[in-house]
Amino acid sequence: MSEVIWGLGTSHVPSIGAAIDRGKADDPSWAPLFDGYGPAQEWLAENTPDVAILVYNDHANGVDLDIVPTFAIGTAERYTVADEGFGRRPVPDVVGHPDLSFHLVQSLIDDGFDLTVFSELDVDHGFTVPLSVWKPDPGDAWPCPVIPIMVNVIRYPQPTAARCYALGQAIGRALAGYSGVKTVGILGTGGMSHQLAGARAGFINPTFDHMFLEAIENDPAKLAALTREDYIREAGSEGIELIMWLIMRGALNARVRKVHSAYHVPASNTAAGLALFDNRP
Ligand code: DHB
Ligand code: FE
Repeated sequence: MSEVIWGLGTSHVPSIGAAIDRGKADDPSWAPLFDGYGPAQEWLAENTPDVAILVYNDHANGVDLDIVPTFAIGTAERYTVADEGFGRRPVPDVVGHPDLSFHLVQSLIDDGFDLTVFSELDVDHGFTVPLSVWKPDPGDAWPCPVIPIMVNVIRYPQPTAARCYALGQAIGRALAGYSGVKTVGILGTGGMSHQLAGARAGFINPTFDHMFLEAIENDPAKLAALTREDYIREAGSEGIELIMWLIMRGALNARVRKVHSAYHVPASNTAAGLALFDNRP
């Protein structure tokens, strides 16, 4: 049986990756954000899992907007870093873990979650920026193999928060039935409140974000009960990315220990948040 040792929720704002790539993390305008990450990065460096599962959304870079799966999983040996129009980020490609991917596919389908399967996939900032938040200086390779789980949050109707939470619980059950690795870390990414276009462009809601950060630790069922319209109204049209944190949380135990959390406004036009949970009893 594989043990989920930690869960990490983090924003994926592309300019956070650009600031790291250009060596600007110590600039006065960026330092307050990156200072907030420090304690989590130190703890994560001491707690590298055998494999990680990264729940994220693509932004029409890896898949075309005309075919958007609600839930998908990668089964590849490697995932190439996508070129989003400015060239590829100078970060390593992602090494996958096909054996665990195929175990997840079968276990999740048998458990009622019929995921689309990608045997080939380019990963965009939704994937690489959370990896950079985990490990800003990866050198030639990320800390461990990583499996992508992709969620549609960009085309209406997105999956419900309740369905995301249930998928996370199913991932937890699938991992309990896998003996190919000992330890797993799981990342839920995106958010926090933000809206990039339309009449409410620039919308940020710290009250909602702080409620979310508290409840993702202690009362995830409350967040799973919110509708997609609740998320869009309270967190913005892109703030609905937060439903992906519930997949991470669903894979953890009912009680977790918070290692560290951070909240910073703004990164670009977005409220950036981080929450790291130790899942060991
Ligand atoms: C920004 C935030 C996102 O979630 C994203 O996918 C792209 C851009 C931003 O705040 O700039
Ligand atoms: Fe996004």
